[in-house]
Amino acid sequence: MREKHSSFLELRKFVAPEFVFGAGARHLAGRYAANFGARKVLLVTDATLHQRAPWVEDVQESLDRSNIPYILFEQVSPNPRSAEVMKGAELFAQEHCNAIVALGGGSVMDCAKGIGIVSANGGHILDFEGVDRIPRAMPPLLCIPTTSGAASEVSQFVIILHEQRKTKIAIVSKAVVPDAGLIDPEIAVTMDLYLTACSGMDALTHAIEAYVSNASSPVTDLHALEAVRLIWQALPEVIKQPDDVGWRAQMLMGSLQAGLAFSNAILGAAHAMAHSLGGFLDLAHGECNAILIGPVVEYNYPACPEKFQNIGRIMGIDLEKLPTDAAARELRRMIEEFRRRVGILKTLRDLGVDKLIIEQLIEPALQDACMATNPRAMSPKDVKDVYEQAL
Ligand SMILES: [Fe+2]
Repeated sequence: MREKHSSFLELRKFVAPEFVFGAGARHLAGRYAANFGARKVLLVTDATLHQRAPWVEDVQESLDRSNIPYILFEQVSPNPRSAEVMKGAELFAQEHCNAIVALGGGSVMDCAKGIGIVSANGGHILDFEGVDRIPRAMPPLLCIPTTSGAASEVSQFVIILHEQRKTKIAIVSKAVVPDAGLIDPEIAVTMDLYLTACSGMDALTHAIEAYVSNASSPVTDLHALEAVRLIWQALPEVIKQPDDVGWRAQMLMGSLQAGLAFSNAILGAAHAMAHSLGGFLDLAHGECNAILIGPVVEYNYPACPEKFQNIGRIMGIDLEKLPTDAAARELRRMIEEFRRRVGILKTLRDLGVDKLIIEQLIEPALQDACMATNPRAMSPKDVKDVYEQAL
């Protein structure tokens, strides 16, 4: 009996913030900020988004309607640097802000979370690396995602680039879960196709890694599998019909559910290796994951074949009757074919990686917080082999 119900007996926590999902959710920014007691808002976004889309103005108007003053902070790079976080925190203090609204992709939201951590706790953002190391609660934070992948609007994760170490550090804590997310499919329509494909593959990687993670639970499994189903169906359609807000909404729902899963079940080797690689060469996070997830799935398959068979079933293949190594190869082939179908054709070599660089990626990947929940342990040689398979 105990054996049968073992997954219900393990201690597992599930944290999720309040969120509003649906067309026009962005217009609620002012009302939500007011509810959180905002007197002055630091509005974190990125300058490129501001130039090419009306979303920043929409959020500004919403804050204006609620009579909440704000100051813009737009100096956020695609891989947010620790120095940018510190600049944002300085502006937050100088301008006497007491709340943060983040409008952007994962980089913007993570930078905003970093600003919140430093504003509440002092010190330097890099001092907070690791799990559960944030003593004081952040100021109220409202997140409005503009991509369908990172899901930082619901997650306990912050990823910041450590400039000196040339790697990305992970900060994981319940304290960085935003107070609310406003998740608006209308915003996703302006994402360009390559970014759509990369952030979509990032979301698929979240779903797969959360599902097979050592820290998964019946509740995270539910969200993870549903995310695989939604993304597997929607991503190729979004690439074919980028203006279709219905498919964009399904993709965003998939990304959200993947976020609920991975925020609580944590991730695995693809993310650990993508953080190391993306930090070292300053590469796009989604693109790194898209290239690494296939070889990582093949490596992890023997650790939990039933779970991978469930994923295969959603993707339309029956892996049960195949020997383990053939099933692992087949699932990898399916995922890599999917990646190419959505337009990501590059290999690690195309991104400038070679065998010498791989040597330098191994140790940071093994030290990354996401490696601890990978379902199959990895030696330095295993990490090297998986990187080399993606060359
Ligand atoms: Fe990710």
